[in-house]
Amino acid sequence: MGRLSGKIAVVTGIGAGIGKGIALLFMQEGAAVFGCDIDSAAAEATIAEATAAGRADSLASLHPCDLTKPDDVTRLIGAAVARFGRIDILVNAAAIAPHMATAAAMDFEEQWRPTLAGEVDLVFLACKAAWPHLVASGAGSIINFASVNAYRGSRSFGMVAHCAGKAAVLGMTRQLAVEGGAANIRANTISPGLVQTAATAKAGATDDGSVRAAILDRLLIKRLGRPEDIAWCAVYLASDEASWVTGVDFPINGGVLAV
Ligand SMILES: NC(=O)c1ccc[n+]([C@@H]2O[C@H](COP(=O)([O-])OP(=O)(O)OC[C@H]3O[C@@H](n4cnc5c(N)ncnc54)[C@H](O)[C@@H]3O)[C@@H](O)[C@H]2O)c1
Repeated sequence: MGRLSGKIAVVTGIGAGIGKGIALLFMQEGAAVFGCDIDSAAAEATIAEATAAGRADSLASLHPCDLTKPDDVTRLIGAAVARFGRIDILVNAAAIAPHMATAAAMDFEEQWRPTLAGEVDLVFLACKAAWPHLVASGAGSIINFASVNAYRGSRSFGMVAHCAGKAAVLGMTRQLAVEGGAANIRANTISPGLVQTAATAKAGATDDGSVRAAILDRLLIKRLGRPEDIAWCAVYLASDEASWVTGVDFPINGGVLAV
């Protein structure tokens, strides 16, 4: 408890999955969280959970907020600073549920472009908008989400756009670390393996089928990930415990890349 006491975090995508898990754990560890989601009902449900846990004062949210739209991102960062006074931590957990198709089948306008906008553009836009506030903080921390698929392909799904998007976030974040060092802004990625969330359920990766079986077969720890497996890594990276950690990636994946 208290590893993030006194810190102000913007967490995107608080309505579901990893972003929700991070928002709730950050508050438990003493941070105030300004969240957002494109899905208002989902964001409201997270707020209701925080309120039931007695943390109503530690969570505010802008929703609906479409982070692929620069004006919405500007509104988000402005609202966060207006509510809590500054920003120390930016967690970019929101992302589109990516369009899954092979390169041969993928439609450029309908599938490729929205996937890249929803995985890459929104991370860039939030980092850019929050940047002056992270400089002002004097100890800013950016946590972005790559994926195990930034490192390896998939036999189960056509995911050429997703692999490109997550590799882009990895490279972008490394360069953000380079550009932020002089201002003591740290920037790191977390690369989750398969975590049980709305997005992975929608993709058909977590039901009791052959895809799940193939994934479990590769895992050294024989269960799918949970949002809190990822959220604990985010707590570390957001905290002063990680004050000399920047420009790196944390693969949290049950050992899937080890064999
Ligand atoms: N779940 C996994 O197995 C896994 C694996 C590797 C990487 N990741 C990455 O982790 C992050 C979180 O994934 P998740 O599984 O929790 O996703 P999720 O779909 O469960 O939750 C994402 C949230 O972001 C919101 N969102 C989507 N687009 C948005 C937009 N344009 N503006 C505002 N909000 C938007 C959604 O409404 C949703 O509430 C993503 O970057 C994802 O790519 C997830």
